[in-house]
Amino acid sequence: METYGCQMNVADSELVAGMMEKSGFAESDSESGADAVFLNTCAIREHAEDKIHSRLGKLRMLKSENPGMIIGIMGCMAQHLKDNILQNKPFVDFVLGPDSYRRIPELLRRHEETSASVVDTRLSRFEVYENLYPSRQEGINAWISIMRGCDKFCTFCIVPFTRGRERSRPVESIVKEAQQAVDHGFVEITLLGQNVNSYRHCDARFPELLDAVAQIPGVMRIRFTSPHPEDVDDDMLFVIRDHANICNSVHLPLQAGADRILQRMNRTYAQAQFLSLTERIRNILPGCGISTDIIVGFPGETEEEFDETLAVMEKIKFDSAFTFKYSSRPGTKAAEYSDHISEEVKEVRLAKLLDLQHEHTLFRNRQEIGKTVNVLVEKESKKSSSEWAGRTDNNKWVIFPKGSAEIFDFVDVTIIDARGVSLFGEIIQVGKKSHAVV
Ligand code: 5AD
Ligand code: SF4
Repeated sequence: METYGCQMNVADSELVAGMMEKSGFAESDSESGADAVFLNTCAIREHAEDKIHSRLGKLRMLKSENPGMIIGIMGCMAQHLKDNILQNKPFVDFVLGPDSYRRIPELLRRHEETSASVVDTRLSRFEVYENLYPSRQEGINAWISIMRGCDKFCTFCIVPFTRGRERSRPVESIVKEAQQAVDHGFVEITLLGQNVNSYRHCDARFPELLDAVAQIPGVMRIRFTSPHPEDVDDDMLFVIRDHANICNSVHLPLQAGADRILQRMNRTYAQAQFLSLTERIRNILPGCGISTDIIVGFPGETEEEFDETLAVMEKIKFDSAFTFKYSSRPGTKAAEYSDHISEEVKEVRLAKLLDLQHEHTLFRNRQEIGKTVNVLVEKESKKSSSEWAGRTDNNKWVIFPKGSAEIFDFVDVTIIDARGVSLFGEIIQVGKKSHAVV
């Protein structure tokens, strides 16, 4: 199984792997040795789909040498491009949307008997894959999906069409999965959903869920992604403030700065509300890391409106940002707008935005210099085998000499420098191991 796109896909792939293992299938360590290759796909931008088309071209060649090999497309692109795949890619055996995974083991067995192609892209109002537990690689962080789908219908976004309506998992099932993850050695839990703070199950909303997960013994760090600005309330911020193990960082997608564009995007907030929300976050949660998503070149975005995005960034100075050129998604409302922006203009705007964000990331990171911060050692630094890389509570990467620390340790690190997107530090104290070594 190969996974593309967002963390929700990573979590879904782990879920499918868990189901398959339970049904007697085993993961192959090479594509040439595999009887079946599944691509868990993303449709958020055209580029994501292009990658899959080119990957499918390679798999088709592999299949010509090994005609028995099964090729499956799952996830958002399967949902979005079902007809195109069926018509133009006859070598694809399975096309499965995000609500059809429960059937994979059964469908594979059936395919063995009939060899017929299988298509199931029905979306469900209820499927939350309750009581199915994922097969995870060992590591620091366990992704746990808490809700699926999205009802916001931002006009640029394909997700409400590929993932269907919002639905939430019961609190008990999420808590049980988090407890199991801790028992298996994971120390960080990231709660996932297209709109985590639209979470609602019976009387529990997102703040209650966060509170319940924070009380699980052994959960050292909790993160979540992504909330929608419209649904962030003070209760959520108070729960973050009141639990040391809920990380002091919020990902808050801005998308655009100008009110007319926000309205055309159907984002349901105005610039002033977004600004006051970030102020509230910083008041209630001092030092909170705030990251964002921004799209440039949305249809009809004028130069002045793009400048407003820059002006909002200047006011907030996000700690980090994921930035995208608008990509038209057939089927969405914005794709029908008649005033699309040229690629050249989008390129220029993206470059400006990246430059500005770079300055802001440095500005925020430099404020950490001289502080001693708690870091979870996660992996070896890419640049040097004598250094570790780990994250702070507010989601910044820190590079520091290994000393006697090991992966999974919590260490106190004094920050001595900030360069690029990283902090650099020195260990002051190695804390207790966050769990038994795996
Ligand atoms: N074009 C460009 N970026 C997009 N995103 C979602 N849809 C599109 C699109 N059509 C971005 C948004 C969202 C992030 C996950 O992807 O910024 O928050
Ligand atoms: Fe897409 Fe908007 Fe839903 Fe996020 S909130 S998944 S951007 S429609």
